[in-house]
Amino acid sequence: MEQEEPKISEGLKGVYITKSSICKVDGEKGKLYFRGYSIESLAKNSTYEEVCYLLLYGKLPTRSELDDFTYKLREERDLPKETLRLIKKLAEKTDPNDLTRTAISSLSVLDKETTDNSKEANIQRSIKLISKTASIVGAISRYRTRKRYVKPDMNMTHAQNILYMISGKRPLDKASKLMDTMLILHAEHSTNASTFATLVTASTLAGIYSAVTAGVSALKGPLHGGADEAALEMMKEIGDPNNTEKFIEDELSKKERVMGFGHRVYKTYDPRARILKEYLENLQNDSNDEVKKLTQIAMRAEKLMVEKLGASHGIWPNVDFFAGPIYTWLGIPHEIFDPIFAASRMVGWCAHTIEYLDNNVLFRPLEEYIGKEDLEYIPINNRV
Ligand SMILES: CC(C)(COP(=O)(O)OP(=O)(O)OC[C@H]1O[C@@H](n2cnc3c(N)ncnc32)[C@H](O)[C@@H]1OP(=O)(O)O)[C@@H](O)C(=O)NCCC(=O)NCCS
Repeated sequence: MEQEEPKISEGLKGVYITKSSICKVDGEKGKLYFRGYSIESLAKNSTYEEVCYLLLYGKLPTRSELDDFTYKLREERDLPKETLRLIKKLAEKTDPNDLTRTAISSLSVLDKETTDNSKEANIQRSIKLISKTASIVGAISRYRTRKRYVKPDMNMTHAQNILYMISGKRPLDKASKLMDTMLILHAEHSTNASTFATLVTASTLAGIYSAVTAGVSALKGPLHGGADEAALEMMKEIGDPNNTEKFIEDELSKKERVMGFGHRVYKTYDPRARILKEYLENLQNDSNDEVKKLTQIAMRAEKLMVEKLGASHGIWPNVDFFAGPIYTWLGIPHEIFDPIFAASRMVGWCAHTIEYLDNNVLFRPLEEYIGKEDLEYIPINNRV
């Protein structure tokens, strides 16, 4: 009997790998839910700390649960001296994304008991990871430009503290609120490439530090977490808002991808991009010339792309498109965008790891072998 051709799903397109109650991405309707709550309502009403609790524990906290959780997060802000030393030594000569990965990996120095994979142990580790990754971003952004390290401030919110550690100044309330929203929007997004990489590693029972290190490695690429930086670079290259349409048309005619557009799951407007577009429009009157120009370019590029590829090709703006001008408004250098993304997403990687380990199955997919078989081994001196 002839063997059936294996069905290959390149890039696992359309393949379900597990059941999850963490996040629903409705790519047809353009809706996103964390544990059943819409991203719009969380961005409007919640805080990053509360969203972290929600993702990790599966329910919104009571006041005392949130106070306790927030306290634990704040308590964990200091970095191990080994990690801080490592960052100081490498920051000036290492790509910030690579250093973020290395520094996150080094946090396993905190853990003597890495074999304890219980839910409770992993939640405690998640709190450390969420908190300390933010401090890692702060340390990298200071040391890479030879600035003095700014110690975390235990009295600030998570969002305030990140901005403070990057700039050395207490942020304004408007900036803190915007940063908090950015953290919420990036906190989780179901089984994307980095979360999948996290789960593959977690499934070997390698431990949560290894799992999230795999996640942050996968995040770096321009097809995933690096797209916001790439989109901002494009806006800077466009330079003058009046060049926008010609630039985009040229890119499309060369079959180049316009960064910040398109998504494997959303075939309509990414709801996070909608929220960011509104934020960016509202910042206009309070922006310097650079951000004003970037905003105009972003709005014109978005209009043209939506007209040309939106409904006809299902290519719409994704979360990364408007993020660059917003981070620029917040005073965050573009080299730090991806590390900030990692700090925001740490909670999503942790929540998925904890959930997956409840019913762990080792990932071991198959490939169709198309090479040769039974070749005769030729000794090296006889080879031509
Ligand atoms: C995210 C992404 C990888 C998802 O892609 P996908 O669902 O796997 O779809 P494909 O890569 O197969 O692309 C399908 C078609 O759309 C086109 N396309 C996809 N994204 C595009 C973009 N941003 N600009 C222009 N064309 C795009 C592809 O060129 C391809 O065209 P073809 O069929 O003529 O070859 C893709 O949209 C992309 O590269 N976007 C830019 C990077 C980015 O913003 N990433 C962040 C995601 S949150």
